Parts: sequence; C-alpha cells; structure tokens
Amino acid sequence: MKTSNLPTLRAIFGFAVIALVTGVSSGQENAVIWEGVYTAEQAARGETVYTETCIACHGQDLGGNSNSPGLVGMGFMFLWEGRTLGAFYGKIRSEMPTDRPGHLPAQDYLDVVAYILQKNAFPEGSEELPSSVETLDSISIVSKP
Ligand code: HEC
Repeated sequence: MKTSNLPTLRAIFGFAVIALVTGVSSGQENAVIWEGVYTAEQAARGETVYTETCIACHGQDLGGNSNSPGLVGMGFMFLWEGRTLGAFYGKIRSEMPTDRPGHLPAQDYLDVVAYILQKNAFPEGSEELPSSVETLDSISIVSKP
C-alpha cells in the first residue's frame, strides 16, 4: 500500500465511525422493548382477546399443544429474536386465528401482542403499543441487555 493513500483511508475510516455512532444514537430515539412499549391495561385487554380467540390452540399458559407452537420463553426468542414487533404483529394479524385469519379488529391484534409480550416478561410502560406498523417495525425483539 502506498503511503499517499493513508489520508484517504483515514478519512474513510473516520466516516465509517461517525456513521456507526449516528446509527446507534438514532436507534435510541426509537422505542426499546426493554423500556416498556405497552401498558398493563393493554395487556389485560389482550388477555381477554387471547382467552376468547387463541387459548384453544396455544394453551392457557401460552405453551402451545401438539398442533400449535408455544408463544413464550425460549421457543419465542428462538423464532423472534432480532425481528421486529411489526413482523410479529403482521404474522398474527395476517394468519391468526388459523381458522379465520385477519378476522379481529386491528386493536385486538395489538392488544394480544401486548399480552404475549407481558407473558414473555418484557416490561410494561406508560404508553400503549403504537398502532402504526412503521413504528412497530422500528422496535426490535431482543434479549434483556
Ligand atoms: C385453530 C388453532 C389456532 C388458533 C385459534 C390460533 N392459532 Fe396461532 N398458530 C396455530 C398454528 C397451527 C400455528 C403454526 C403455524 C404457523 O406458524 O402459521 C400458529 C402460529 C402462531 C404464531 C407464530 C408462532 C411463532 O412463534 O412463530 C403466533 C405468534 C400465533 N400463532 C399467535 C396466535 C394468536 C395471538 C392467536 C389468537 C388471536 C392465535 N394464534 C390463534 C394455531 C392457532
């Protein structure tokens, strides 16, 4: 490598560092799942939806049965870690319940997502889950930091 390239390389490297740092700080402006992205009241509404619509297949403890997957614990994190709440909500809204997908009001789908988050020990917060899918897409499902 010629020494004359060094300043250019430094400039590129410096730019990459700035891009990284900016990326991280703009991430912090988005809601973080461990800082509370739903309310206790919303999860309680979601429990009613779950009991009426999901419990027959996914079980009272959300552990699933021989035909339906569990929605809590390691199984949940195995499938969903690194993905977004938007993807999770989208999956439920477009495919559940399997016998009549998309049948519930949008708010019921959001509330049931809040309930599943609560059952996975994600903390409650002071604001309900945002109803905008774009905002939900900005919230990643990650393990406890
Ligand atoms: C008639 C049975 C049945 C009902 C009712 C039902 N599900 Fe499911 N669910 C399934 C089956 C079977 C699968 C696995 C196939 C799949 O992923 O599409 C599944 C998959 C899922 C998944 C994806 C599992 C994962 O971690 O990838 C979620 C989340 C889910 N259901 C949530 C719900 C919610 C919330 C409700 C109530 C609104 C509901 N389901 C109602 C049978 C059911």
